[in-house]
Amino acid sequence: MNIDELKNFEKPPQSYWMASTPETEYPVLNEDLKADIAIIGGGITGVLFAYLLGKEGLKAVVVEADRILQATTGHTTAKITSQHGLIYSKIKNQMGEEFAKQYADANESAIRMIGEIAKENSIECDYVSQSAYVYTLQNEYVNKISDEAKVASSLGIKAVCLDKTPLPFPVKAAVRFDNQAQFHPRKFLLPLAEKIAGSGGQIFEQTRIVNIEEDDGYALITDQGKKITAHRVIIASHYPCYNKTGLYFTRIYSERSYVIAIKAKEKYPGGMYITAEEPGRSLRSQISDDGELILVGGEHHKTGQGADTVKHYEALIDFADKTFTLEDIPYRWSTQDCMTLDGIPYVGHFTSKTPNMYIATGYGKWGMTNSMASAMLLKDLIVNGESPWQDVYNPSRQTIVASAKNFVVENFNVAEKLIEGKISPLPKDIDIKPGEGKIIEANGQRAGAYRDEQGTLHVVDTTCTHMGCELSWNSAEKSWDCPCHGSRFSYEGDVVEGPAVKPLNAHKDVNTIEKLIKDHF
Ligand code: FES
Repeated sequence: MNIDELKNFEKPPQSYWMASTPETEYPVLNEDLKADIAIIGGGITGVLFAYLLGKEGLKAVVVEADRILQATTGHTTAKITSQHGLIYSKIKNQMGEEFAKQYADANESAIRMIGEIAKENSIECDYVSQSAYVYTLQNEYVNKISDEAKVASSLGIKAVCLDKTPLPFPVKAAVRFDNQAQFHPRKFLLPLAEKIAGSGGQIFEQTRIVNIEEDDGYALITDQGKKITAHRVIIASHYPCYNKTGLYFTRIYSERSYVIAIKAKEKYPGGMYITAEEPGRSLRSQISDDGELILVGGEHHKTGQGADTVKHYEALIDFADKTFTLEDIPYRWSTQDCMTLDGIPYVGHFTSKTPNMYIATGYGKWGMTNSMASAMLLKDLIVNGESPWQDVYNPSRQTIVASAKNFVVENFNVAEKLIEGKISPLPKDIDIKPGEGKIIEANGQRAGAYRDEQGTLHVVDTTCTHMGCELSWNSAEKSWDCPCHGSRFSYEGDVVEGPAVKPLNAHKDVNTIEKLIKDHF
């Protein structure tokens, strides 16, 4: 196939992890329930945490708005590594050596724990030990790479600085961490979910929590009006679904990034890679039933602010084409990550005023080990009252000197997008071809119109149901995305990603809009 044929995006995106595993079918919650521990969110964190609690003899209820292990967990690159870019020098400089040590210990322990759980439960999950590399093609990053190797080594990580890697192109420098790993996340987690459900825990799918009230502990209200009364609540819903306190929406922003799974003529040289600089590029391989896939990732941008999102897949294809002899691209997918102001996740007590409410979020693209570390940390807080890593992950940490600037930048950006969305002029071109989505004016108001491949027009009110920002069209995933806090909606208006919990209003007057478009031409 030539490069233009490979850039044909007619087929919708699909992740290899999703395509190679069965869908789950846990029930919808259809009655009120009492539980000791309720976990909101059935991603990797919720499942690992419920599993660890089960080992302590504690039963948890996991509630998932959609299907478990599908959202970010089903759309990752699945690297099990404590190497999160050049993070150790950054934490040491901004927060001190003790915090850097806690972060290193947490993530190295997480690597070991994932291996142990897979072994203990005889889970076949394509687990392979690998080295992880951060490399640079730029001279100005060479010292940063060598500093990272020194700091990481001083924290007990097996790290070494190199001037070449096994990749088929020269680099200026690289830092390699040994004893890291890769796996198939759903092959690992689906059996654990079955174990939870089979040992007294409960999992409910397609059950969205739309409100949390204080009521003899907490009362979680579902979108179907049912109530879960729980003594302890863990919010592991990716972007927190509770905003009455904690102001998390002022200190988390959402980013999207992209992956293509390619087939190449040459064999992949082994290892997991990421660039130190922009544009970010990530590489690893995966054995599939149909031979070797190479996962090429990168191209991050703030959700709802990525311009023509199809261009991000094209950029990855161009990179893959320069690096390997590209034969096919059987899978491509994108994902969403929650980012914190200082790059360290928020894991621990939700706030000091919400006893028995906990949070785990903000993994900043490093969710495989951070989720395992979070599950271990939260289990320790609940069972022992403390964790050796609680300070570095503390959601209320006071070490945010460096991130005070980021707080201003991020919140200015939200305010700017809120205003810009309301006043920016509407496009004059209102022709909408099949597969195309656009903001148009309908009856004097902004509306989002998408014409599906069969020619049917779908029109929604593009005001985000979270806090009122105006949505933008994501051409790669055919969704309406919010530039403020990252909520996403299908072209029919259903919530795809929170923090929004309510769907968009559908425009009732689609026929009038269709007539308006016809009259215009
Ligand atoms: Fe907050 Fe849209 S996600 S306004």
